[in-house]
Order: sequence, then C-alpha cells, then structure tokens
Amino acid sequence: MGKRIAVFASGNGSNMENIVRYFCKKAGEPGYVALVVSDKSVATCLERAWKLGVKCVSADKKRQHDDPDFIPQILREYNIDYIVLAGYLLMVPQNIIEEFRGKIINIHPSLLPKYGGKGMYGIHVHEAVKESGDTETGITIHHVTDVCDGGDIIFQAKCDVSPNDTVDDIAQKVHALEMEHYPKVLETLLSE
Ligand code: GAR
Repeated sequence: MGKRIAVFASGNGSNMENIVRYFCKKAGEPGYVALVVSDKSVATCLERAWKLGVKCVSADKKRQHDDPDFIPQILREYNIDYIVLAGYLLMVPQNIIEEFRGKIINIHPSLLPKYGGKGMYGIHVHEAVKESGDTETGITIHHVTDVCDGGDIIFQAKCDVSPNDTVDDIAQKVHALEMEHYPKVLETLLSE
C-alpha cells in the first residue's frame, strides 16, 4: 500500500482537493491522502474533505500551543508518512519538523526567494508581484524547515505576467500551475 499523506490546510482547500483526487485516480499508489489537518474548525477545506470522505482533524493555534503532542499523536495514530502543506497558514511546530524531517512539503505561490516570508501568503503575494512590475511569477514546491519559506527548493514553474494583468489574473495563472504540478511533484517524491 502507498505512503500515507496528511494534508495541512487553512482556507479554500483547492490544492488539497486536487491532491486527494489525483491520488484516488492512481488507486492509492504511490500514496494517498489519509488525513486532513486544519487550524480552523470552520473552513471550506474541511467541507471539501468531508465531501471527499477524508478524515479531518482541527486544532487551532491555542490548542496546538497548549497540547504540543495533540497533532503528533494523531499523525502517529494514522501512520502518516508525509505531511503536505496546501495553504496552511501556521508555522509547523518544531516537534513535528523533527519527527518528519525531510518529509514535510509546502507549495508557495511565487518564485521563492521572491515574495516569501512572514505575511506573504495567498493574494498578498500576487499583490506584491503586481506592484513590483515583475514580468514573471510562478510556484515553488519546497521542503519545510523552521525558517518560513526557507527550506530547500524541489521544483519551480513560471508563468508570464503582463502589465495588463490584474491581481486576480495573476492569481489564476499561478493557481493553474499549482493544479498542474503539485500532485505530480508529490508523486515523484513519494516514489523515491
Ligand atoms: C495556494 O495558492 C498556496 O500556494 C498558498 O495558499 C493558496 C491556498 O489555496 N500558500 C501560501 O501562500 C503559503 N505561504 P487553496 O486553499 O485553494 O489550496
């Protein structure tokens, strides 16, 4: 049986859903999503996971702080091999980074190291790209460390940005890259 993935998500969950569906089509090889973890108790990502029939668990920042072993225990219970961040807005705590060293992957909606770091997430990234006048942007898939957006880069893909593009146009182009590449890059990693 394939590797067991926990997807961590906070918001819309389109990447999470895309990853769940991609691995379902592969009949669970080389991996499949066994669990969705969220820091929110009400979020579209949880609704999506529920409709997809994927088990969800929620623990907000306070709960994680008060009981640092809460999520690690659940990850062990579900025999999780890989953690995949998909629009997860909290930093992954040190104890989880240590337990899953090299096995936590994130996607960031820019060409890191550009437009990374604290406060740079989702639409804020695309606003910064628009403001800069850059002629290209893209996605970065990288390992997660305790440095925000700082782990080794695994994969990048680019798209053009034209002066006429609105922030929303940029977001759509980047989203298309995420949908195309994230599951495939994960598949390659899980197969290694
Ligand atoms: C995605 O664009 C992802 O790259 C970004 O949040 C969005 C989540 O969308 N992640 C970050 O900005 C992390 N710093 P989704 O919830 O629809 O998958």
